[in-house]
Amino acid sequence: MASTQAEQGARVLVASNRGPVSYEVRQDGSLRAKRGGGGLVSGLSAIGPDADALWVCSALGDGDREAVRRGVGEPGVRMLDVPADVHADAYNGIANSVLWFVHHMLYQTPLEPVFDAEFRRQWASYETFNRAFAEALAEEAAEGAAVMVQDYHLTLVPGMLRELRPDLRIGHFSHTPWAPPEYFRMLPDDIARQVLNGMLGADRLGFLTRRWADAFTACCERFTGGIGKTRIGVHGLGADAEFLRGRAHEADVDERMAALREEIGTAPDGGARRTIVRVDRTELSKNIVRGLLAYRQLLKDRPEWRERVAHVAFAYPSRQDLAVYRDYTAEVRRLAEEINEEYGTDGWTPVVLHVKDDFARSLAAYRLADVALVNPIRDGMNLVAKEVPVVSDEGCALVLSREAGAHEELGEDAVTVNPYDVVDTARALHEALTMAPEERAERTKRLAAAATALPPAQWFLDQLEALNG
Ligand code: G6P
Repeated sequence: MASTQAEQGARVLVASNRGPVSYEVRQDGSLRAKRGGGGLVSGLSAIGPDADALWVCSALGDGDREAVRRGVGEPGVRMLDVPADVHADAYNGIANSVLWFVHHMLYQTPLEPVFDAEFRRQWASYETFNRAFAEALAEEAAEGAAVMVQDYHLTLVPGMLRELRPDLRIGHFSHTPWAPPEYFRMLPDDIARQVLNGMLGADRLGFLTRRWADAFTACCERFTGGIGKTRIGVHGLGADAEFLRGRAHEADVDERMAALREEIGTAPDGGARRTIVRVDRTELSKNIVRGLLAYRQLLKDRPEWRERVAHVAFAYPSRQDLAVYRDYTAEVRRLAEEINEEYGTDGWTPVVLHVKDDFARSLAAYRLADVALVNPIRDGMNLVAKEVPVVSDEGCALVLSREAGAHEELGEDAVTVNPYDVVDTARALHEALTMAPEERAERTKRLAAAATALPPAQWFLDQLEALNG
């Protein structure tokens, strides 16, 4: 690091695999930039344009790589052109197929995981990927700057960066759960220690809930001799009420609501059909299949709901490079069709399934939902559970898995389920559908208050302050 560089460098840096912008090559060869949202975007905009902030992220697709090559970029964003094969090994092979699986406890253990020579080869790419970030951050950071590293893609960065730049204040935030020691020890011993020691290179580690923070500490006590000087904090990211309420009342959302109402149809008595809404990225942890099984159980056990309810399920594509994700998506479709064949009538489609991502339609569904079904088998937080009560027009009963991080904050006013128990989930759906309107409205108010207690900008600023303090 040249000293002039450090004087001029950034004072606040964020590092994440997925950045705030992505590029697409248009037919005519020009580049189209697409900007994303989320907690980090609000946080960085809250510290203002004068703060010398820099976001370091990875080029993810061909459009991104082309942008890097052409020198196209956004101010305040540095995209790393990690070779596509290295990125694929690190991202699909290790981050999404190993670390995500471990933290969400997703393996079918009689046959997986298998930590073979191929795994070792991919792990070397994960190290390369993390090193590229550590080097870029070391190059860009001003003396004593704060660096906030995000998620399981970059667990080795804090340790690597600490060696390159001992002057920096380094934080890491996990947006996922953390595995308990009994599950985490499935990793080869040296890899388990490398992950934990990589994280412990940070001054401060952030988690979404106390439960995940405690699991991390327990892993360190078992496998590295404790957390040492690293501090641990819990920051329960909340929903962005102001943005959501404004966005949910724009014209395109009203249009989507009308179209959805048409699709849902009316009950035989002419009244509005009740709705059980779910909105997820189709991730293995979201438990969409058991949600459908529970809905089928409800229709079987409680014939009075037939023709009077619709399950509106939005299952948006995620990680389609991975065969297990493609298979899971296919199973969601198959089961939805099976239920529609079994119970559907001329005027009633029991499951209204959409798989094309459409944020305006998601908000429309949030607004009209009578019941929201959020039943992940394990989830860092789950923002859908927090967003629905904020935008709901007339109050919505929330059926919520006790394994979602959001349950720590919302459990009291939700109808709690064990996500593996479909009979109990069917019972919970019935309870939610029959909740008295006044009670539903009261609970929704309390849920919305709890869900927005820590808005994204404050969530970010709290971490920055704690890191600098
Ligand atoms: C989940 C986690 C995020 C993570 C994201 C990555 O949504 O909660 O913390 O960043 O997955 O997934 P992606 O498909 O964007 O790589």
